[in-house]
Parts: sequence; structure tokens; C-alpha cells
Amino acid sequence: MPKTKSLLDGIGNQKETERYYDDWATNYDETLKNWNYKAPNKAVNILFNLKKNIIFNLDLACGTGLFGEELIKKNNKIIIDGCDISSKSLKITNKKNLYRNLFKQSFEKKIKLNHKYDSVSMIGSMTYCKKPNLLFPIIFNYLKKNGIFIFTHRVDLWIKQDFDSLIHSYNKLFKFNYKSRPLNYLPENINFSNKVKIRIVGLKKI
Ligand SMILES: C[S@@+](CC[C@H](N)C(=O)[O-])C[C@H]1O[C@@H](n2cnc3c(N)ncnc32)[C@H](O)[C@@H]1O
Repeated sequence: MPKTKSLLDGIGNQKETERYYDDWATNYDETLKNWNYKAPNKAVNILFNLKKNIIFNLDLACGTGLFGEELIKKNNKIIIDGCDISSKSLKITNKKNLYRNLFKQSFEKKIKLNHKYDSVSMIGSMTYCKKPNLLFPIIFNYLKKNGIFIFTHRVDLWIKQDFDSLIHSYNKLFKFNYKSRPLNYLPENINFSNKVKIRIVGLKKI
């Protein structure tokens, strides 16, 4: 199969993904707005329904900080840390002055942190996780007891990767707190339109 560089079919390895998002960073926010990307806003609303008292949030694959913007709109006292592999995206996030610490690091490696979070978010990025079975224990360690992991995942990949079974296999670590119906992801993008949907999921650390 030829190597395709597309959002829909996959960008490639981590280095290629990093370059892709670095190249996109300066007009990422504008493009996503044009595609009517609502996942950060919807995920924040769900997160606040699942947990009221959030003080610390860790935003994995934070990109240009769209999720942080929505979090701060809800509660401007929340302290947000973030990580991403795209340094150009992190530079843009940094300029927005919404995040406390930004780490240029993959979510697949444990970030050295000296405190725990009320919530961990990973929005629009599960597609890039090569080994989801290794990710969940890492996230478990970032969270306080009863902390929430909120993430989105494409429904087509959810089925292909049998995410229901995967999450069930971690039922000693997390309780399945919320799983949305399939929702539009990038409705104004011609390849995604109403064909590719996402779920928003909330897991509670036991
Ligand atoms: C579709 S964007 C989502 C960004 C942001 N969360 C949002 O909702 O706008 C995907 C992001 O995942 C990042 N990414 C891809 N693979 C990653 C990895 N292994 N570790 C950290 N970030 C990664 C990309 O650099 C990009 O910023």
C-alpha cells in the first residue's frame, strides 16, 4: 500500500506526524474553525458534567491549545499542563498564555511529574496512539483517585481496535463513566463530513 499522508488514512510514523503538525501549526486553528471542529467544546461540557471540582488538568497532545481555551472559558482558575510532539504547535499554545507547563513529549512516554491531576484530556489524538494498551496505565498514574480521563476516538478505529474490550480489560483501574453516541468530527471537511464520526469517552480512575 502506498504511504499516504492524510488525516483520514494516517500520516505515518511519529517523526512524520511531528513534521505534519509543525507545518500546519500556524493555520491549524483557522482550518479547524472552518471545518466546524467542536470536539474540545463538547468534551469540556462532558468533563464538567462528570466532575465539578477540577483544579489540575493534563492535556495530552494539546496541539495549539484548543481544549485549554474551552476549559478556561468554563473556569479560569484551572491549572493546565500540556504535552505535544509538535514544537511549533506548542509555541502557539504558549503564546495564548493558558497553560502552565508545556512538555515537548509523546503521550506514549511517561512525563516526569511530581503531582497528580483531577483530569487528563486527550482530544482528537487517539488516532496517533500506536499502543493504546500501554497508554491507559500511564494515564492511571497521572490521575488522582476519582480523576477523569476524557478522550475522543474515531468510531471506525474504535471498532477496528475493539476499544470496548480494551477498556474492559482495564476495569480494575477505570470505571466506564461516559460513552457518547457517534458525533460529527470535522463536518465541513470533505473527507470526514458526516461519514467519519467520533465518540467522546470519560473514564473514572477507581
Ligand atoms: C488533531 S490534533 C489535536 C490537537 C488538540 N488536542 C485539539 O483538539 O485541537 C492532533 C495532535 O496530536 C499530536 N500528536 C500526535 N502524536 C502524538 C504523540 N505521540 N504524542 C503527543 N502528541 C502527539 C499532534 O502533534 C497534534 O498536535
